[in-house]
Formats: sequence, C-alpha cells, structure tokens
Amino acid sequence: MADNNPWWADAVVYQVYPRSFADSNGDGIGDLDGLTSRLPYLSELGVDALWLTPFYPSPLADGGYDVSDYRDVDPRLGTLAGFDALVARAREHGMRVIVDLVPNHCSSAHPLFQAALAAGPGSQEREMFIFRPGRGPGGDLPPNNWPSNFGGSAWTRVPDGQWYLHLFDAGQPDWNWRDPRVPRMFEDIIRFWLDRGVAGLRVDVAHGIFKDPELADAADTVRSVRPSGYYHRPETLELYRSWRAILDSYPADVWPGPRTAIGEVWYDTYATLQPYLAPDVLPQVFNFELVTAQWDALAIRKGIDATLALTTGSRAPWVIGNHDVVRPVTRWGVAPARAAALLLLALPGSAYVYQGEELGLPEVLDIPDSARQDPAFRRTGGKVRGRDGCRVPLPWERGGASFGFSGTDPASSPAPPWLPQPAYWGAYSVAAERGDPLSFLRLYQAALRLRGENPALGVGELSGGAAGGAAGGAAGGAAAPAGEGAIRWLDAPDDALVFARDPGFVFAANLGSRPLPLPPHREVLLASGALAPDGALPRDTAVWLAT
Ligand code: GLC
Ligand code: CA
Repeated sequence: MADNNPWWADAVVYQVYPRSFADSNGDGIGDLDGLTSRLPYLSELGVDALWLTPFYPSPLADGGYDVSDYRDVDPRLGTLAGFDALVARAREHGMRVIVDLVPNHCSSAHPLFQAALAAGPGSQEREMFIFRPGRGPGGDLPPNNWPSNFGGSAWTRVPDGQWYLHLFDAGQPDWNWRDPRVPRMFEDIIRFWLDRGVAGLRVDVAHGIFKDPELADAADTVRSVRPSGYYHRPETLELYRSWRAILDSYPADVWPGPRTAIGEVWYDTYATLQPYLAPDVLPQVFNFELVTAQWDALAIRKGIDATLALTTGSRAPWVIGNHDVVRPVTRWGVAPARAAALLLLALPGSAYVYQGEELGLPEVLDIPDSARQDPAFRRTGGKVRGRDGCRVPLPWERGGASFGFSGTDPASSPAPPWLPQPAYWGAYSVAAERGDPLSFLRLYQAALRLRGENPALGVGELSGGAAGGAAGGAAGGAAAPAGEGAIRWLDAPDDALVFARDPGFVFAANLGSRPLPLPPHREVLLASGALAPDGALPRDTAVWLAT
C-alpha cells in the first residue's frame, strides 16, 4: 500500500496484561521474559504492535496502576535489560511496543508521596499531591464529596489530620499537575521510554489529571464520566499539546517510526470526546463504542456512525474488550463475539485486541472471594465483583500445571498462578485451538492475515461514498471523497450490519433471528460460523465478502 499513513493508522495492537500472559520462572506471575519467549505466537497471530499494561515496580494495590517507580521494571516481572531485549526481539518480528503511562496518580509507596507524608502540612513536598484539611468539627469529614472510582470517598486522612485526594484506591494518590515539578518529571519519564525505543504510550485516565483548583463539591456523588471538577478539564488539552511536541520531536523515518500516544478517555457524550480529537493533541484516543454497545445492530451502527462522523478509526481505534471490562464472549455470547471480531477487524483504521480475546476466553465469574485482587471488590465490600475475571492467566497447553502458563517443562512444579484458573481452561488453550479449524484462534489468525493482504481493509482506499445511504452517491466524482474512514452502508434489515469498503469488500453480520441472504459477491473470504445450506447468513454470524 503506497501511503503516507503512520504505522499506527491501521495497526492491530495486542494488549498484554504482563502478569497474566506467560511466566518464565515458575513463580506463578507472568513476566517480561515469558512474554519475550512467546513473541513467535504473537507474530504467527499477525498483530502489528503490543501494548503492555504497567510492569513497573508497584505494591499492586491496583494491578500495577499504582506505580512506585516510573523508570524501572518490577523485579517480579523482570529488569530494564529484559525490557530492552523484549523491544529488540519484537522488532525482529516487525512488532512495535507501546507502554502504559500513568500520569493521574502514583503509588502511595512512591518516594515523593512518602516524602510528602514525612514533610507534613504546608510543605513543598505536599504541594506535589492534593492535600487539604477536612471539613466539619475537627476536620473529620473529607474536603469534598468526590467519589473514588473503586467505591467510597476519594479522600483518605493521614495521621496529622490532612486528607489526600485519590480518584482510585487509597494506594493511588493523585498528582497535583498545577505544581510545575509534576509536568517536568513526566516529560522526563516520557522521554525515558521513547528513548528506549517504545513506539507509543497508552495514557491512563487521560480524561482525569487536572482537578478544579476550588475542589468544589460535585452535583452528586454518583460515579460518572461526565465533565466535572475532576474529569475533562480544559487544562488537560494544553498538557497534551506539550506531549505531542515531544512525540513529534522523534524522527519519523527510523524505526519505530512516528511515535503515538493513545488516550484512555471515557466520555459521556460525543461532545465530551471531541476536543481530544483536535489535530495537535494526542495522536489517538480509544473509542469505546463497541465496548459499551449491546449486541444490537442499531446500537452498534449508531456507535460506528457517530465515531466516523467525529473522526477516523485511525485517530479513535476500535476495541471490543480490555482488562477493565467483562470479556466479549460473556457480555454478548460466543457466536456474537466471533462475529464482533470480524466487525472489529473490518472497520476502518486501527483495532486493539486484548489478550485472550483471540482464544474466546470467557470471563471467569467464580473466582473465590479470597483470591480476588481488584480494589473495587474490597472497597465496595464485595458489591462490585471487580475485574479479576478478565485477567486470569492464559492457558497455553491442554493440561499440566497452570495449563502451560508457567514454563513448558512438564517435570517442573511451578507455583500456582496468581489468580486461579478454572478447571475447563485447557479447552481454550493455544495448543487446543491451534489444531481446531473452528476455533477462535484460527478465526483471528485468518482475519489478521486477510486484513494484511486486502487493500480495502485497515485504512483502506479512499472511498467514493459517504457513511450512510445505500450504495454510495458519489458516482462520477461530483461529490468529494469521504476520505479515509468511509464505509458505505448497504440496504439491509434493521437487525443486520452490512457495509462496503473499496475496493471490492463487503462486511455483513446478521444480528436478527431470520436468515439473511448474502449480498452479491464473488467469494466468501471468511465467515465467523457456518452458513445455512442455502448460503444465507444465520443469526449472530458475520462474513467478509469479496465483490
Ligand atoms: C485505568 C486502567 C484501570 C485502572 C485505572 C486506574 O482505567 O485501565 O485498570 O484501574 O485506570 O489507574
Ligand atoms: Ca514469573
């Protein structure tokens, strides 16, 4: 494809949750060497880049999103030399590496937070965080009514009587971004990783970071992602302009090419998301339309259209799951999750795949309470079950200790995995699925191979039609091309999703109960399930067609 698009414009990025991917030394905790040893699997799968969730030193109050040293590797997960080796080996497979940047908060074990605690009220050290006196008699009440995302108040009191802000767990104090030392420190952190050859950053809680300096009470204490005193502050965009300048200062013409940053922005409305898509801020932000939509054709179509009306799938990549949400197979069902995989990979732009999605792993719902790690479980007294169920260590082998998660030597007796695996896990293993032509793994492999070969997929070619409307209306070139990201919806029942991309590609999915006759085509390239004997598309089945 002769194009001027940066590599990230149509990359398929595989999200690795390192502690649950592969364990090299048998301690039951996945690590960087384990990941490096499994790179051939990812290369065979056909992904373009890896995003690693945090592997930094951390007390693990929130699965590593409580960082106590932003410039090192947790000794349980490896070393910086091991990280460099991973980046180098990934490159040999043509894969880039993206790391997670966690700027909203650190760990309460971070030396600067410990220094702030020791220095006491009114100190310069406390200025780097958000410390305040309490309200009410004796200052016994939190400074305002903001809720923690994980339940309870967003404030915790320290022995000298002050309170500190944490939008997440008490082990995750929020930085005060209005103190110039904080942005300066993060610029150094960003350069530290980019200098090591990482191709991009995933920006955690990218809608947080700046807080209303007044710290005024919220209208209510219901958790929400609407603009508020703690979310979607305009100062954040200024910050991203400065980060964009750093990214753009790296040479685009040598590996790993133009550097990207992808913001985790949770939004209530498209108007809230829109400012993050200005051309000079972060190169990318996730669109969570396929994570939040029910398995309903109208809802999904609305999400796709709204995203493409706002931007492109390159700037706002598609995603059906991640380490924070219930697995697609459990959210929607097995057949829908297979059809959704073909949808994900047929939409224009870039797509993210969370580890285990390619195996069709279900959410593990019956993790014993005593094994649960998510702070949301603890902070809500078990009312919120939490996100452990999508973080269970991967099964590599049909059987054996931890289904091959810890090494492959059958004689070894590794420690049990840090989250228990269910007894049925082996049926979902890489070994089992490799040999089964009807498996999720084989579907993902085939889809990724076709996606790489088919000029209509990924960014695709400029399409003559606008999104919406049957069969396009741009014949004769009178209308301006809709440009990258355009798809043409074809006439179809309300419970189906049928769109064309140029040249010569049609996606069709039937979400209704009546069989759907296939649109005109030359060839069925791939199907998420068996077609009916008459060739019609059964319920919850998707196809890729060549036209
Ligand atoms: C993001 C992460 C999530 C984490 C939270 C706090 O939402 O994806 O896993 O708990 O930020 O860092
Ligand atoms: Ca290990």
